[in-house]
Amino acid sequence: MPGIVLVGAQWGDEGKGKITDLIANDFDYVVRYQGGNNAGHTVIHGDRKLALHLIPSGIMYPNITPMIGNGCVIDPRVLIEEMEMLEREGFSTQRLLISGNAHLIMPYHLDLDGASEHRLGKNEIGTTHRGIGPAYQDKSSRIGIRVQDLLDEHIFRLKVEAALIEKNDVLDKIYGMATYTVDQICELYLPYAERIRPHVTESSQLLNQALRDNAWVLFEGAQGTLLDIDHGTYPFVTSSSCTAGGAVIGSGVGPTAINKVLGIAKAYITRVGSGPFPTELPLEDEIGHLLSSVGGEVGVTTGRLRRCGWYDAVIVRYAAEVNGLTDLCITKLDVLSVLDTIKVCVAYEYQGKRYTTMPGQQTAIHHATPIYEELPGWKTDITGCRNYKDLPREAKDYIEFIEDHAGVPVSIIAVGPDREQTIMRRWKPRD
Ligand code: GDP
Ligand code: IMO
Ligand code: MG
Repeated sequence: MPGIVLVGAQWGDEGKGKITDLIANDFDYVVRYQGGNNAGHTVIHGDRKLALHLIPSGIMYPNITPMIGNGCVIDPRVLIEEMEMLEREGFSTQRLLISGNAHLIMPYHLDLDGASEHRLGKNEIGTTHRGIGPAYQDKSSRIGIRVQDLLDEHIFRLKVEAALIEKNDVLDKIYGMATYTVDQICELYLPYAERIRPHVTESSQLLNQALRDNAWVLFEGAQGTLLDIDHGTYPFVTSSSCTAGGAVIGSGVGPTAINKVLGIAKAYITRVGSGPFPTELPLEDEIGHLLSSVGGEVGVTTGRLRRCGWYDAVIVRYAAEVNGLTDLCITKLDVLSVLDTIKVCVAYEYQGKRYTTMPGQQTAIHHATPIYEELPGWKTDITGCRNYKDLPREAKDYIEFIEDHAGVPVSIIAVGPDREQTIMRRWKPRD
C-alpha cells in the first residue's frame, strides 16, 4: 500500500504544486488533507499557468482521482469557482471526490477572520482572510458545519440555527458587525448542495480500500511545517496540521499507510504574513530585493509580496524531524544563479547560546542571530540542466551542503517553474 506524503518544509510556497504535478503520474489518488483556499499552488502545464487553491494538483491527469479529505475546510463558493475554472481550461473535474466530513467555511468565518485580525492590530497574524482560522475554531468547538450537513436541508437549517446563536452574539456584541439569519445563509448555501453532491463520498473507507487494492496515494500538503498549528512558529501559523502526521488524520488512513515523506524546500526561504524570520533580508537589502524580483515572490492567493531570506538549515533539519522526511526536494535553485556568493544559516545564537536545532522557546526564535556559512555561487544559467552531473560544481556543492545539514537525501532539484525543468536525482517512489 504505497502512500507518500508531500509536505512543505519551510513557511509554505516551496513549490509543492509544481512537484505534486511532476510526480503525480505515478499515483492513482492525490489527496489534500488540511487547509483550505488559503493555499495557492501554481502548476504550469505547457503554456498554461494554473493557480489551485483547494483542488489537488493531480487534477490535470485523467488517470488520477483527486480527493479533498476530511481535514480540509471548504468554502463552497470558491470550490465551485475553481471547478468551473478547471472545466473552462479543459480539465474534467468529474472524478473529484470530497469528504462529507470536511468542514464548511461559512460567511461569518470570513467576517470574523478580518475582524479578529483588525482587533489584533500590530499583533495581527497576517492571515489570508479566507475564514480558515474561524472555521477550524468552530470545528474544535463542535459547532462547525460539515459538507454532509449541506446535503440535507433539514439538518443544515438546524446546524446553522445552533451555530448562529453564538456567532451572531460574537459578530454583534464583540465586533459590532452585521448578523445573519438562518434564511439568509440557507439562501446563499443550499444552491451549492446540488453542485457538490455528486462528488461527496465516504473518503476514508474509499481510500483504505484503494490502498488494500495496492493503489498509489499521494497526500499533497498545503502551507508548510513552520505554519503547522502544533509544530510551527505559533501563534504565527495557520490553524491546521500541515506536517506529515496531518495526512493520516486529515484523510482517515492509518500511519502504516505512509511509506515515504517528501519534503519540499526552496533553495532560499520565504514567508507571507507576520512572525519571526531569523534569516530575513529586507526588501531594501540588495540581495533581498534580488530574491524577491528574480524569484517572482508574490503570493498566489493574496498577491502580497513574500518576505525573502537565506536558506535556513536549522528549519529544514527541524522539518526533517517532525515530518520524518525520507527525501528532500530543493526548488528554485535557478534563482540563486544571480548571486556571487550564497549564505546558509547553520545555527542560531541567542543570549550567548548556540542552537543547531530549533529552540523550544519562541522568544529565542524571534531574537535569534543567524550564524552563516558562505558558499561560492555559480553565476551560470542552470535552467536547462536535466541531470545532476550537468550542474556546475558550485551548485552541486550547495546541494550537498544542504543535504549534509538536513540529514536527508536531496532526491529532486527544480531549476525552473516548468514541469521539465527538474532534475530527478534519486527519486525512487517504488523502492
Ligand atoms: P506552493 O504553494 O508550494 O505550491 O508554491 P507556489 O506555487 O505558491 O509558489 C512557488 C512559485 O515558484 C510558483 O510561481 C512556481 O511556478 C515557481 N517555481 C516552482 N519551482 C520553481 C523553480 O525551480 N524555479 C523557479 N524559478 N520557479 C519555480
Ligand atoms: P501554500 O499552500 C504561505 C500564512 C498566512 C498567514 C498564516 C495564517 O500556498 O504554501 P491563514 O489564512 O491560514 O489563517 O493564515 O499562514 N499562509 C500561507 N503562507 N503559503 C500558504 O499556502 C499559506 N497559507 C497560509 O500568510 O501568515
Ligand atoms: Mg503557495
